Amino acid sequence: MSHIVDQVSLGAIVQVRDRLLDQQARGRKVLRLESGDPSFDIPVLAREAMEKALRDGLTHYTASTGIPVLREAIFKKVTTENGLKVPNTDHVVVTNGGMHGLYIIFRALLDPGDEVILPDPMWTEIAENVRLGGGKPVPVQLREENGYQYDPAEIEAAITPKTRAIFINTPQNPIGVVASRETLEVIVKVAEKHNLFLVSDEAYEHVIFDGQKHVSLGSLPGAEDRTISVYSLSKTYAMSGLRLGYVIVNQPLFLDRIKKLVRCTINGVNSVAQYGAAAAINGPQDFTHSMAQEYQKRRDILFDALEEAPYVKAFKPGGAFYLWARIQPEWPGYGGQKDDWSMTNYLIDTAGIGSSPGSAFGAAGAGHIRFAFSCSTQQVEEAARLLPEVLQAA
Ligand SMILES: Cc1ncc(COP(=O)(O)O)c(C=O)c1O
Repeated sequence: MSHIVDQVSLGAIVQVRDRLLDQQARGRKVLRLESGDPSFDIPVLAREAMEKALRDGLTHYTASTGIPVLREAIFKKVTTENGLKVPNTDHVVVTNGGMHGLYIIFRALLDPGDEVILPDPMWTEIAENVRLGGGKPVPVQLREENGYQYDPAEIEAAITPKTRAIFINTPQNPIGVVASRETLEVIVKVAEKHNLFLVSDEAYEHVIFDGQKHVSLGSLPGAEDRTISVYSLSKTYAMSGLRLGYVIVNQPLFLDRIKKLVRCTINGVNSVAQYGAAAAINGPQDFTHSMAQEYQKRRDILFDALEEAPYVKAFKPGGAFYLWARIQPEWPGYGGQKDDWSMTNYLIDTAGIGSSPGSAFGAAGAGHIRFAFSCSTQQVEEAARLLPEVLQAA
């Protein structure tokens, strides 16, 4: 049996990013559609609050679960906007990004060998964090013919005596599918029937299109006491490098464990970033809304381009900033290969366009490709102009 950390990959997207950065350093123009990092600056109010925190010398240890002003802002937001029932601010835990939140959730929730059901394809780090928590990821395929909705019947069929939790992410990375309220309600019923926990990753709650409204799983009847929710300021306020996320956990046992894990992993998030986060959450939200509108515009530009391009069949996402496309059998391949890596490699080598091979997101992702449209609108427009002709020339 290998060491638990040896079961975690070094990351396919990192490999693509490193190649693009290397080419860029050598003077080549590259289009950064491989990873999901918002192109926007953070809200002015957040920047000013951080500048003030620095000037005021607020650079010392904070309470390890977060400064009171931030936890209160989060408490207000999740109880009003998300409709979560949370007893008090003690149940709000500030984390070093959503990623750290996921790590401590699975570490707190799982005993060795416990199973967690998750969608396939899925952001790679979910399965990795389940493994790091000693658990076993159990994939349930999202099917194109079902509009990539997570199917409660397939979830139920995957349940075994070892199942501990069902993981849900909406809007979803890498497909951009938004789970319908009906789907979420049935998933809660399945969890109730089998006495399972629910882990709800809402990192993209504000990147949602076409007038849809995000539904928080924990707000649904029956979900309140079995859901642990994780959020991120990376996408909502473009604060990705400031590493700010939070976990909402109602169950006292897991809350205790999560507090211990925060103390022993980070012992509190960067104090200055926390003041910025409080200002962002307490301030007007028009910044977040206009970002979502701009992402929707980029989605449409890129989707239309892929509709014109040969060899790919794109799915129009309802949220998040990724475009997922199936590679068609006619794809001639590149470098002697026909798999999803061959299309990613071809686009880097011939046009400097970044993408992620679908297989990076799980077995069901093989034969697909993901384009992120979180880079600038200008880069998205340029990629949209190039993609049909570059693929045509393959
Ligand atoms: C599905 C999903 N959850 C959580 C995160 C966490 O982001 P962060 O650690 O930047 O808060 C990401 C980031 O890409 C994501 O795609």
